[in-house]
Amino acid sequence: MIIDGKKIAEEIESEIQQEIQKLKGRRPGLAVILVGDHPPSHIYVNKKIEACHKVGIHSVKRQFPNDITEEKLLIELQKLNRDPHVDGILVQLPLPKQINPITIIQSITPEKDVDGLHPINVGKLFSGDTSGFVSCTPLGIKTLLERAGINVQGKRVLVLGRSNLVGKPVAALLMQNADGANATVTVAHSLSKNIPELCRSSDIIISAMGNPKFITLEMVKEGTVIIDVGIIKIDDPTLNKGYRIVGDVDFDAVKDKCSFITPVPGGVGPMTIAMLLSNTLKSFLNKIDRDAKQTR
Ligand code: GUN
Repeated sequence: MIIDGKKIAEEIESEIQQEIQKLKGRRPGLAVILVGDHPPSHIYVNKKIEACHKVGIHSVKRQFPNDITEEKLLIELQKLNRDPHVDGILVQLPLPKQINPITIIQSITPEKDVDGLHPINVGKLFSGDTSGFVSCTPLGIKTLLERAGINVQGKRVLVLGRSNLVGKPVAALLMQNADGANATVTVAHSLSKNIPELCRSSDIIISAMGNPKFITLEMVKEGTVIIDVGIIKIDDPTLNKGYRIVGDVDFDAVKDKCSFITPVPGGVGPMTIAMLLSNTLKSFLNKIDRDAKQTR
């Protein structure tokens, strides 16, 4: 069965929209920072801004040239940290070479880090403290599995890729002692030995490698669940636009062997955006709670 991530994301966005419509006063606000001219980042950021607009989140897009200094960017982030209309701050990655992403991420106040990348939020995830923010793609994957009715408890989950954005946090999230988790997680990466064998012995494969059609029919056992996080643009002169977007999985070859599989596009991608909106609403509600406690 093909998991329709777009439809599930739309359902979640409609739930968020209804919650926001019930709010009185200020609306939740998200600031998105885009540095330089990395074309996919422009597309992703525009999708995030569009989604905010759809559900009623106030969004600010701050765009900076490729040669902005780290100091200037840090000053901008300090302003957003203090801005009472901004509940969430997201710095789109990758950043240009002169800017250290670790310094930038650590300068965002953890209460507004809706991307869940600040060490405080990463630490909360690893220690099972649910008050923090979990990064959007891992949270989207967990939500997608839950809404598709796939129970990961006790299952052998293979995560391919060890990035801070996807591989590491999704492994932490699914191995937790918590509802919707309790999986037996293996993390493999580019230097792992015998990935085909690891794939064949897994119940669920979450692939976040960015390697087109890496997962082939021989690597998949009957009934496996595949979550494809890869998004790769490949040339295709037969199409008007001249390219196609594909994932890490040879979708057409393996789809009939899987019990569930996510397509690319239309699988995990829309869920990442829905989770960003959900985290922004969570941050807004946290702020209302903190303000109410202060005035008590
Ligand atoms: N670049 C690609 N995916 C992401 C994401 O989820 N967050 C940020 N900040 N940058 C990205």
